[in-house]
Amino acid sequence: MKIALVTGAYKGLGFEFCKQLSKQGYKVILTARDLKKAQKAAELLNEQELNVYPKALEVTNEKQIQEIASWTKEVFGKIDLIVNNAGINPKDYADKIKMAKAFYLNELDAKEMLDVLHVNSIAPLLVVKHFRQLLCRSEKPIVINISSWLGSVTNLTFGGHYGYIGSKNLLNVLNKSMANELKAEQIICVNVNPGWVQTDMGGAKAQFTTVASVTNMINNILSKVEISDSGNFLNYDGKVHPW
Ligand SMILES: NC(=O)c1ccc[n+]([C@@H]2O[C@H](COP(=O)([O-])OP(=O)(O)OC[C@H]3O[C@@H](n4cnc5c(N)ncnc54)[C@H](OP(=O)(O)O)[C@@H]3O)[C@@H](O)[C@H]2O)c1
Repeated sequence: MKIALVTGAYKGLGFEFCKQLSKQGYKVILTARDLKKAQKAAELLNEQELNVYPKALEVTNEKQIQEIASWTKEVFGKIDLIVNNAGINPKDYADKIKMAKAFYLNELDAKEMLDVLHVNSIAPLLVVKHFRQLLCRSEKPIVINISSWLGSVTNLTFGGHYGYIGSKNLLNVLNKSMANELKAEQIICVNVNPGWVQTDMGGAKAQFTTVASVTNMINNILSKVEISDSGNFLNYDGKVHPW
């Protein structure tokens, strides 16, 4: 039996990951910062006789990460897959003044930038830090960090948007370094561009449904990655994405 943890998972890509992974037989720990939202999302899947376990997780809260790792150790004894999916995009902030502080040069605010980096770039490493021992108990441990084409320097043809672009670019390089550190433990760590997806973040006009995007990532990446791929930034079709 394989065990997976997905962050930011009560809606969007995270929820679809939980659905597809549990349909494939994984036991899935579905996390969201609001426990009630996690419970409601898990209920929806468990109605279909899937094995989904809701937990509260604000990804910048190391104590919560640690608690879930201890619970996972007690209940399952290992983890096979971590999907670091939780993310924020300042363009979506309801507070436009706050949004501008991570978006435009004239408004740029270090604290706001650092908050975006904390969630999008640093928290994925903190999750792996606390689940490292449990990953080592898996036959084939995999960490998938949801990055973005917006983190690619090659793709950068427009200005502004510092918080999000910087955070996903940093996530890419931090993952490469983490992958190098964890190679001796055979832990596969990859960053993935899901494409432009119809979620609250991506908007209704996006190219892919969540079903299509997650199916792509599972078929082209999760089911194929090997330790030699660790550290790579991959596109949803499985090809290496330009840095
Ligand atoms: N949609 C796209 O086109 C697209 C493209 C490239 C990359 N991505 C990436 O895909 C991932 C999923 O996004 P999505 O498109 O599915 O958007 P979404 O529906 O807005 O989902 C984002 C999720 O992250 C959670 N989250 C945010 N901050 C968190 C925190 N500090 N702790 C825990 N959870 C937190 C949100 O929960 P709350 O509601 O509680 O904030 C929400 O569940 C993100 O990393 C995003 O950057 C999306």
